[in-house]
Amino acid sequence: MKTILIPIAYLLTAFLLISCGQPSRDTQKPGKWQSYSGDKHIAQRVDSVLKLMTLEEKIGQMTQFSANWSITGPVMSDDFQPYLEKGLIGSIFNATSVEGIRRMQQIAVDSTRLGIPILFGQDVIHGYKTIFPIPLGEACSWDLALMQRTAEIAALEAASDGINWTFAPMVDISRDARWGRVMEGAGEDPYLGSKVAQARVTGFQGSGDGSRLDEPTTLLATGKHLAAYGAAESGRDYNPAELSEHTLRNVYLPPYRAALEAGVGTFMASFNEINGIPATADRWLLTDILREEWGFKGFVVSDYTGINELVPHSVARDEQHAAELAINAGVDMDMTGATYIKYLVKSVEEGRVSEKTIDNAARRILEMKFLLGLFDDPYRYLNEERARQNTMTPEFMETARKAVAASVVLLKNDNQILPITKESGKTIALIGPLMNDSINLNGEWAGLGNRNKSVPILKGLTEKYEGSDVKLLYAAGSTITETTQGKIAEAVSATRRADLIIAAMGEDFNWSGEAAVRTDIRLPESQRELLKALKETGKPIVLITLSGRPLDLSWEDENLDAILQAWFPGTQGGHGIADVIAGDYNPSARLVMSFPRNVGQIPIYYNQKYTGRPVDLSNEKIDYKSSYLDASITPLYPFGYGLSYTTYDISDVKLDKSSMKATNDKIIVTAMLQNRGNMDGDMVAQLYIRDLVGSVTRPIKELKGFQKINLKAGESKQVSFEILSEDLAFYGIDMKKKTEPGNFKLWVAQNSADNTNETDFRVEQQ
Ligand code: NOJ
Repeated sequence: MKTILIPIAYLLTAFLLISCGQPSRDTQKPGKWQSYSGDKHIAQRVDSVLKLMTLEEKIGQMTQFSANWSITGPVMSDDFQPYLEKGLIGSIFNATSVEGIRRMQQIAVDSTRLGIPILFGQDVIHGYKTIFPIPLGEACSWDLALMQRTAEIAALEAASDGINWTFAPMVDISRDARWGRVMEGAGEDPYLGSKVAQARVTGFQGSGDGSRLDEPTTLLATGKHLAAYGAAESGRDYNPAELSEHTLRNVYLPPYRAALEAGVGTFMASFNEINGIPATADRWLLTDILREEWGFKGFVVSDYTGINELVPHSVARDEQHAAELAINAGVDMDMTGATYIKYLVKSVEEGRVSEKTIDNAARRILEMKFLLGLFDDPYRYLNEERARQNTMTPEFMETARKAVAASVVLLKNDNQILPITKESGKTIALIGPLMNDSINLNGEWAGLGNRNKSVPILKGLTEKYEGSDVKLLYAAGSTITETTQGKIAEAVSATRRADLIIAAMGEDFNWSGEAAVRTDIRLPESQRELLKALKETGKPIVLITLSGRPLDLSWEDENLDAILQAWFPGTQGGHGIADVIAGDYNPSARLVMSFPRNVGQIPIYYNQKYTGRPVDLSNEKIDYKSSYLDASITPLYPFGYGLSYTTYDISDVKLDKSSMKATNDKIIVTAMLQNRGNMDGDMVAQLYIRDLVGSVTRPIKELKGFQKINLKAGESKQVSFEILSEDLAFYGIDMKKKTEPGNFKLWVAQNSADNTNETDFRVEQQ
């Protein structure tokens, strides 16, 4: 009987799909992923499938399993094969290669009752096979077009290899450098974070301009982790976030909202609790805010076993209760936890979950499958030839190399020791555990990037100086965590014939990312010992730091001549860093997270509140102020900071008028930028404001605009910014978002601590 039923039902599905017509091209247009609810054509087709489905099959669509080919969390004991064969899986993640994915898709399409295709997901975070700098590093480029392009390339490589959906971008605001996941986001600022979220979503999902719709070149994206995952207490992963609704709405939520406005198709609920309610069970967050207030039409996936974790979180009695809390809160798909497939039929029968809730969740997931074109051709992402053509192409390598150079932040450069040009004739001792390393370069969450193929810094520098008068000597001197007197002596002896030392040091790539938290964010002791021995040689020292977080570089800042923060730079790391060292690229990156003076200052961020007892920075010792006894309150390097091989000036900051109305008005700000040096370069002009009086306390400064401008040596250019009255809006005492009248300060600055060009304006009541 079963064998007869399957083909009949499948034919019926096919008939209904066909009778509703083929999708028009523009139904696959990624830019439309947010507006499909208005698309009657898709809605009809989804309904035609839903009508054929049993309750269990609908819940199957709401179930995702990991192929376990690359584990990104605790391994679940369930083998997903039986579910796959019964048509009870909506999505599989961590499956890789066209061949492997085709095998699974074939089972879903050919051997299940309704033949509904599977959605294949993957953590494509900062590249798939071509690995770009970690997102935190890349955000330091302040180059939105670049970030959009690297996301596009990552999507193209993955979509060519059978993947349809990425769990990125991570848009969590990060103010705590101990937290290992700061590496995945865009740092501490809601304005910049929102812009980066939009660029990355657009890159992954495609611009929707209709240019490449004939083949699947893009991925469905995920805004994660909703919400405030970055506000984990003590920086400890998965820890509670205790924060006011004002802070949640004014600081943490804007980047998720921006991702939504860029059309993101899915969101991932975060692991943490916010003010006592785990996000996965938070109906206020996932339904009231996300769907009703913001109008989100896509679907929400749990973060891995986030639903099962409601039990240890102590809000669910057991896994069935957990599944009920999650589905009723608004989580449409269970990632790997198998709670929905195990318990929700029973919960519906027992009346604790409505059939309508299940229908809505299944509908949202099926809609995405239609939009991706999977119902029309379940194999459209699977094409070996395309996978070969679209992998690690020379153009991708070139973009990756540029992205490295654009992400490296020059933190210190005394006596212009850098760059070291090919003509300099210098002899350089190259030292440090990360100098000849390829394994760590990709950083965490590096997709299928081949760690053995990333270009070590030593190789990059060797190729760069080949045939020139610059001579290179090399000795590691230590591993990341260990050294011996012998190794140190070897490194010191390599410096004897050298004019200067370049040391590549930092973290193991595993020390950042998920569940990778540090309470001591200095360089490991072995490396500090090595640096001290190098310092005793008296030779100038340039330090290249590789890390997934801001480090405490206080000793290094005091004792070394130059510091280049290179993050984890990815596949083309060595080449991009060599371009900066040799002066073929003038560093332009600016920090997106403050670097603390020591771990005790954390959390530290530029847009803090003033307090009732603000500190006078010219005399921090005055008693009874919000200061420290044993350190300054200022960071070692502030948000927005970074040096170049040239210096820039900002002058003539002018406003087209001194006041504007609280709604539908704007002020135009102009400023003159000048490159005062003898090298061309890119300058990041940053516009900050301070709202002097609010119905709730206001941050010391807030970024409200920025522009990255190319200036030739000696060149001046005028830059202009537009401040709309809406740009000044915030959630005030009544928890409504609006612009409050009053006086504002404004700066066009080179970093968040630069007060040189200050002016003011007023916002009037209507
Ligand atoms: C857990 C992580 O928190 C999330 O970011 C990731 O997408 C999933 N695991 C899947 O790997």
